[in-house]
Amino acid sequence: MDSDIREGEVALDFDPGAKADGSVSFIGWIQTPWKERGSAPRNLIQARERTSEPAHLVLQPAYGPGLSCLEGYSHVVVLYWMDRARRDLILQWPRHSDRARGVFSLRSPVRPNPIALGIVPLLGVDQDMARVTVGPLDCLDGTPLLDIKPYHASTDAYPNAVSS
Ligand SMILES: C[S@@+](CC[C@H](N)C(=O)[O-])C[C@H]1O[C@@H](n2cnc3c(N)ncnc32)[C@H](O)[C@@H]1O
Repeated sequence: MDSDIREGEVALDFDPGAKADGSVSFIGWIQTPWKERGSAPRNLIQARERTSEPAHLVLQPAYGPGLSCLEGYSHVVVLYWMDRARRDLILQWPRHSDRARGVFSLRSPVRPNPIALGIVPLLGVDQDMARVTVGPLDCLDGTPLLDIKPYHASTDAYPNAVSS
């Protein structure tokens, strides 16, 4: 685990990863062009700006049938596990911010359960190969895949949403 911590940041006095009361199964892995921490884009906008190369969701073969009917959607929600992130920083000081912020007000990969979210265009589904091609993602190559869900603009989009 990283030991560095910035002024204003606060770490939990326990490691959430060591106190898990549930478990998830990785359904596969994500292939992206980003091989090292420093090279990864900060978010999906930056990922799209930096590459037109799609990301590949490579599922374990047993999950292939679960892709049935997915091809009818234009976009999908991808949930992934930031396996190389520490999990104990409850307050964090992002470089762009003038103050420390609570983890639940951030999209940081550093969180008690390092689950990341990307809503991306669906470019291809190969059920036999248990493989899905999507628009660029902001995760490192080899990041574990947790889930894929269809994106429903009617329920998932809030056109008047505000962010701070
Ligand atoms: C700010 S997060 C956003 C993730 C996702 N789009 C979200 O909103 O939940 C993206 C950053 O996570 C980091 N990252 C990517 N893959 C990672 C991994 N497998 N483990 C730890 N950190 C990772 C990279 O530094 C990248 O810039």
